[in-house]
Amino acid sequence: MMVVIPTIKQFKEHIGIAKQAGISIGFVPTMGALHEGHLALMRRAKDENDLLAVSIFVNPIQFNNQEDLKKYPRTLEQDSIMLESVGCDLLFVPDTLEMYPEPVTDQYEFGKLSEVMEGASRPGHFNGVAIVVRKLFEIVEPDKAYFGEKDFQQLAIIQQLVKMIPLPVEIVPCPIIREMDGLAMSSRNLRLSENERFIAPLIYQTLIKAVKLNTLLSPEELKKWITDKFKSHPEFKIDYIEIAEDQLLQPVAHWNDANSVYIFVAIFLGNVRLIDNMRIF
Ligand code: PAF
Repeated sequence: MMVVIPTIKQFKEHIGIAKQAGISIGFVPTMGALHEGHLALMRRAKDENDLLAVSIFVNPIQFNNQEDLKKYPRTLEQDSIMLESVGCDLLFVPDTLEMYPEPVTDQYEFGKLSEVMEGASRPGHFNGVAIVVRKLFEIVEPDKAYFGEKDFQQLAIIQQLVKMIPLPVEIVPCPIIREMDGLAMSSRNLRLSENERFIAPLIYQTLIKAVKLNTLLSPEELKKWITDKFKSHPEFKIDYIEIAEDQLLQPVAHWNDANSVYIFVAIFLGNVRLIDNMRIF
């Protein structure tokens, strides 16, 4: 039976009892509107720990666009059914006042990692993510916390955060889960119109083809090839396309500049912003 808890005090009481009993805690923080991608993280967390804790909190301070915050899907009833199905033990559902009784002013410094891609396009976003994730970790005290690689840069930021503080939690990266047609699962997919949803898999198809071209083109040429592909479809508006290494996510000029290189994209379809990435090598 899942226990649903809205307050920090009560949640900490449950965690205290679990800790005293030597129970290991796997944690999946979310903003709700759950899909198979979240459930994959939860199944793994349940599998690797004694207790599965999940949070649902739409964190206002990580939204740099108020319209995006307002439109973020909220589907708690359906989420609860999905959570029961994966055996969630503790669900934390605080409201904004519970999490932020006073305005928050903390500023985190992530250097170069936060200056590119999502960091450049969404000012303040990662600071908001770091504040909430730290707070959640301090409440939940997980042994392991699970994050999807779709938000690759967020994962890198959180890995840096737990080293910096430091916090005694193991961060477990989990592969992207895709729809049958290749579209990376995201809560924002719910906001796509029928036509936008129909053409959205082009993002995945383009990445698949681009990965195969790396032996023929330089990183700059490959970036241009991807750009041209999206530009030939007026429905897509490019936010960024980057070919970057996997540590500080800095763009590479030559293939042998790094051991591992990814393509990262952020694309608008109508007013829905979708991100995706794929490893080249
Ligand atoms: O990836 C998300 O859903 C959010 O950024 C997170 C990690 C739950 C923090 O609000």
